[in-house]
Amino acid sequence: MELFQVLLLLILGLIGWFALTRIPLLRKMAPGPLGLPIVGSLFHLLNNDAIEEFQKYKKKYGKVFSVSAGNFYITVVTDYRLIIDNLKKDEFQGRPDFELWESRNGGNRNRGVLFCEGPVWHEQRRFVLRGLRDFGFGKESMEGMLIHELQDLQNTLRKDVGKPVNLSGVFNASVLNSLWYIVTGNRFELTDPTLKTLITLLIDNIRSSLITTPALFFFWPVKYGLIGRGTFQNSLKFRENIKKMLHNVIDEHLETYKEGEIRDFVDAYIQQIKASSDGSSFYSEEGKKNLYSVLLDLFVAGAETTSTTLQWCMLYLSRNPRVQKKVQEEIDNVIGKSRPPNRGDKPRLIYLEAVLNEVHRMCSLVPFSVYHKATKDSGKPYYLIHIQDGF
Ligand code: HEM
Repeated sequence: MELFQVLLLLILGLIGWFALTRIPLLRKMAPGPLGLPIVGSLFHLLNNDAIEEFQKYKKKYGKVFSVSAGNFYITVVTDYRLIIDNLKKDEFQGRPDFELWESRNGGNRNRGVLFCEGPVWHEQRRFVLRGLRDFGFGKESMEGMLIHELQDLQNTLRKDVGKPVNLSGVFNASVLNSLWYIVTGNRFELTDPTLKTLITLLIDNIRSSLITTPALFFFWPVKYGLIGRGTFQNSLKFRENIKKMLHNVIDEHLETYKEGEIRDFVDAYIQQIKASSDGSSFYSEEGKKNLYSVLLDLFVAGAETTSTTLQWCMLYLSRNPRVQKKVQEEIDNVIGKSRPPNRGDKPRLIYLEAVLNEVHRMCSLVPFSVYHKATKDSGKPYYLIHIQDGF
């Protein structure tokens, strides 16, 4: 057969494959840009201005539109009400099958909570929420530890009064230390080099760890360095280092664990592993693998998000001195200057709460959220959320 005939057959085959598999799918999708063959709108998604690009699509195609990227078809929802309503539905609680998420969770994406779906997600999520509540989040017993952390933070900041200061390192240390304490039962002195290593691993490297980047939709060009050269290698380095650190924590807890003496979140998880039977995601070796993924999820999801939000908060307050003054007045009226704040003060700090909500809205820290997948054929194959101006 001539080369020309082979090429013709190949092209016809591709067109046939496209017509049979893709056209029915495309017909179910919300309207959206056509994109390039094979890569779709990937280059727009990878662009730093992806959010602005999405604003344009919203104006052109409406509040719900679709884009494609490689093999993935994505529905973008930009309306606040619609996002809230859809997120309540079970059918949108899946997560896409990204290769990177799978290898990060030890060869099975369905471990931990962040990238997990189905019964494993329900089981792990229920445990994590209860564990965080029992060992810290929203508990009176956490207050003493948080006040301690706050005083250390104040002392650090006082050293630099009147000087320009990079708040990034300062907030990172306090936030990470609080989280580390809840999960592992230990805290570091702010000058401890191990804390610095943790910050570098978890916070400074998170930007190169490709957790929520649109590159995940069409991964091999990043994996083989065709785009974003070095990003994948950085991501692997980060993963190996953090793995060692978290495995040390797990091994140490397994060695010193005593029945009936639950010291922290990791102990509570080990207790759950021991109480589980075959078929549970906590059972035996699978349980230990889930413990590792859960710890990674908590630090990755909780540390950088919280400290970066605090930095945005400081930036907005320094650029809006009128707001800063009102926040200070409310704090002085409700708490005064002679005692530290406590949880009981929260309902009366109404203006502060409104300011914090506005900071979340303005900084829109995870603008594409963590991608959701539709688990039923609802015409919305992949589901990506963007709420920048949806309010
Ligand atoms: C300002 C701080 C934070 C922001 C902006 C933030 C943002 C987000 C977003 C956008 C998601 C994805 C939600 C979804 O899939 O629909 C998420 C999930 C999650 N976050 Fe946060 N987060 C913050 C703080 C924290 C903290 C402090 C923790 C824990 C210590 C945490 C743990 C998690 C976990 C475990 C998930 C996965 C939940 C699930 O799949 O069910 N986050 N977060």
